[in-house]
Amino acid sequence: MARAKPAKKSSRNDAPDAIALLKADHRQVEDWFEEFDKARSDDRKQDLATKICNALKVHATIEEEIFYPAFLAATDDKDLHHEATIEHNGAKNLIAEIEASSPDDDYFKAKVTVLSEMIKHHVKEEEQPGGMFAEARDSDMDLDQLGEQLAARKAELEGESDEGDDTPPPRGQRERGETGRVMKSGR
Ligand SMILES: [Fe+2]
Ligand SMILES: [Fe+2]
Repeated sequence: MARAKPAKKSSRNDAPDAIALLKADHRQVEDWFEEFDKARSDDRKQDLATKICNALKVHATIEEEIFYPAFLAATDDKDLHHEATIEHNGAKNLIAEIEASSPDDDYFKAKVTVLSEMIKHHVKEEEQPGGMFAEARDSDMDLDQLGEQLAARKAELEGESDEGDDTPPPRGQRERGETGRVMKSGR
């Protein structure tokens, strides 16, 4: 009558392993894209677009800083790794365009729709049989340990973007706000 351990959980603790964490991010963003499709008011569209862009920036950053390098080191699969990286670049360009625009821009919805298509394609490449995550599972990557690293970095980045949203810029640093960037301050 031993209870089975929940699937995909780390053996060391209750934290999700790297792949479970990244997949949960994918599902969250897919939900928001779906809600965006149904949204009627501009406020709601703006709110969802902001959530999507922020979540994707954090997700791409933790993959690029932690998961992708570990994948490349463990598998030496440059084709999968490089393709994924280039797809991230394409998505980031479109995210920047969405952030610079708003629902009263004629092209706003098209931008979000095309972003959702790009992400759908990219997520499929990561999750499909023979894709990056499957290959990572077959490798000797320490997915539990990477999951902890991803979660820690994710929390840190989310904290930074919260600060950016809520805290007025310190006196004398107003000029930094001109670009409207909240992302990384370089440290
Ligand atoms: Fe991903
Ligand atoms: Fe990715």
